[in-house]
Parts: sequence; structure tokens; C-alpha cells
Amino acid sequence: MKSIKVGLLGIGTVGSGTFNVLKRNQEEIARRAGRGIEITMVADLNTERATELTNGQVKVVNDANLVVDSPDIDIVIELIGGYGLAKDLVLKAIANGKHVVTANKALIATHGNEIFKAAQEKGVMVAFEAAVAGGIPIIKALREGLTANRIQWIAGIINGTTNFILSEMRDKGLDFDVVLKEAQRLGYAEADPTFDIEGVDAAHKLTIMASIAFGIPVQFDKAHVEGITKLQATDIRYAEQLGYRIKLLGITRQTAKGIELRVHPTLIPSGRLIANVEGAMNAVMVRGDAVGETLYYGKGAGSEPTASAVIADLVDITRLATADPEHRVPYLAFQPHAMADTPVLPIQDVTTSYYLRMHVADKPGVLADVTRILADSSISIDAMLQKEPSEGETQTDIIMLTHQTLERNIEAAIAKIEALPTVMGSVMKIRLEELS
Ligand code: HSE
Repeated sequence: MKSIKVGLLGIGTVGSGTFNVLKRNQEEIARRAGRGIEITMVADLNTERATELTNGQVKVVNDANLVVDSPDIDIVIELIGGYGLAKDLVLKAIANGKHVVTANKALIATHGNEIFKAAQEKGVMVAFEAAVAGGIPIIKALREGLTANRIQWIAGIINGTTNFILSEMRDKGLDFDVVLKEAQRLGYAEADPTFDIEGVDAAHKLTIMASIAFGIPVQFDKAHVEGITKLQATDIRYAEQLGYRIKLLGITRQTAKGIELRVHPTLIPSGRLIANVEGAMNAVMVRGDAVGETLYYGKGAGSEPTASAVIADLVDITRLATADPEHRVPYLAFQPHAMADTPVLPIQDVTTSYYLRMHVADKPGVLADVTRILADSSISIDAMLQKEPSEGETQTDIIMLTHQTLERNIEAAIAKIEALPTVMGSVMKIRLEELS
């Protein structure tokens, strides 16, 4: 059978990995796909480098439109990134009747609904395994492997840069800025590292997983997003003394009132497997009503790990291309007519536990004032730590872990605590999840 012809838009880290793995494993891949899969065209602004990377074996152009418009191309791989040009090219490829594979989480999380609708109407496929957690086949696991389950929650370390930064800060006591530079040098960080450190990259990935888990349209604009820039080394240390690690977690949970969709630094018990995921590695925990808790671990970025996901999509498309659209696996796991309009909850309606750190005057009655405010708000304290003030110091830190409460309750209580004359500055609040 004739091989499937693929056009690549952008031959950077992931593009070159895809080219190399596809070549290296071509026989195995053809045995699995039922026919050969061949990259025959590459578009990149740096044509010289693209020619070098592909050993002069494919047609190289500097205009991506030439690939998208080429009648010889069956599948377009979009590895340009961003929402502008990438979106136009993906929609054009679909309009031209081509299947699309993309690693672009920003694009899918913000414009997925429009892209899936266009693809549905045209009868082509859009695949995006590489968009979430790089080489971990989490989309496939959620959409197919766990399809029997009612998904209850997902909690993931889905940004390698921030996990690397937190690991290094904890392990080596290094400062945030120093570790960020190292993450950039190692190639983990996005071109604009704000997306990593402010939690946006993780929120893109979480948005996609939530839609697949709960059968709701992608709604990145409803996600609550907090990064790690406000986190201090002191909090990492205090958390450790209390038996917790701090991770940037993406959490989505189905509740009776709606769906939680949130990315923020989170205390997790040190004994949980996911708390021990270190460096740039990714891990996703999924709890289903039938299967219980499952954990997926692996490299969330990098040339060949991400290529592994891109090529899995190429193989899927190659296998399914002849199936009629009604009988293919739906993009968001649920059939388009069976999508739910379950609301995504604002963060004030989320229930969780909290770590609170406050800097207080070290004198009688301060602790009583704080605990009275919490008791009046029906917030119960789970654990407490008071730092011994150093010789001659008149102020100290108090750290409290609370039992579960509504975010709006804790916010109101914190406002009252901050108004106490004996409490200096603002209260540091970090959410805590037992994940059990
Ligand atoms: N910048 C991302 C990360 C990699 O640090 O995990 C690709 O999503």
C-alpha cells in the first residue's frame, strides 16, 4: 500500500525528533500502522538548517502554506506553536481535507472547540497527544483506556520547568532566579518562560484533560491559574517539616456543584508517589470510580519523548483514516452531541485544605486571636508549627494547616487575620491536597 505522506510545519526540537524517530523506527512503525509513514515536506523559516536536519531527503520550503496547500500531503504536523499563524494554518489544512497532528496545547486549550468543529464537518482528524505531558500517553489513557469510568479527579505535575525549579530549590536551597536560568539552559522552559512559571502552560494542559475527562468543551478562560513566583524557600522548608512537598499541581475535579479547574502550588503528603516526582519529569494521577487511583509518569518535554506522542498520533490517523467519522474515537472522548454543560466553578467555590504562614508579634494572645477568627469561620486547624524566635527577636512565624473549607471562607478569615495589629504583612496561603 502507498505510504502516508506527511508535511511538517516547524523543524525545531520536536520536529527533528519526529523526523529522526520516524526514520529510525520506520519498519516497526509501518508494521503497526499497516503502511509506511513518510515526511516528504518540511516548512521552516531556516531552510538551510531544515535541509541539514533532514539530510537533504525531503522538500524544504520557507512558506508553511505550501505544505498545507500541497495536494501530495495527507497529514500536516503543526509544531509552530502559539495561537496566531498556527491556528490559521491548522484551519486551512482542515479546509484542504488534511488530517492534523499538533503538539500545541495553547491552541487546543483556547481554540479547540472551533478546530474540532471544522474537522468534524470536513471529516478529517485532529490529534494532539503531544500537547499534554509530552511523551506520556495521557490523552489516550483518559479517552480510551479509562473509558469505562466516571472520572472523579485528575491531579498532575504537568510542567517540567516549574517542577525542576521546585525540586532544585528544595534539594539545593537555590534561589528561584538561578534555577530558572538553568531550566532555560537545559531547554525545558517555553520560549517565554512566563507561561511556565505563572502556571499558564500547565493550565492549557489541564484544560484539555478536563474536557476529555468530563465531556465539557475546552474552557481555558475559566481556569484558575497561579504560578510559583510568589513561593518562598521558607514555605518549601516549613512544608517539609510538616511532612509535605510543594508541587505546582493542575487539579480538576467533578463535584456536585460543578467542575474545579485550577493550577496552583499545592502541598502534597511527602509519602505520595506523585510528591516524589522530581526534576523536569511529569506525572498525572487520575482517579476513576471503577479503577481507583492510577498514575502516569514520564518525560513531559524534549525532542524524542514528544516525538513519541506525535508519531503515535500519526499511526492512529493512518489506521483510522478509512473509518467513517462517526466511528472514530471522539476528540474529547464523548460524542459531540453528548457533551455536558456542567459549569466550571470559580475558585471561591472550591473546597480544599490550606497551609497558612503568618508573621506575628511574639507575645501572649496572638495565637488565641488567630485561632478565634478561624473558629468563628468554622475553619478547623489540622496542624500547627511555631518557629522559635531567635535570640532578641520579637516577631516569629506561625504556620497552620487547616482541614477542608471553602475558598471564600478562608479568604474572609485571612482578611480578618491580616487586620490584626499583631500580624505583620500578608498571610501566605497555599492549598493542600491529600490526594486520597
Ligand atoms: N515548557 C514545558 C514544560 C514543556 O516545562 O513542561 C512543553 O510543554
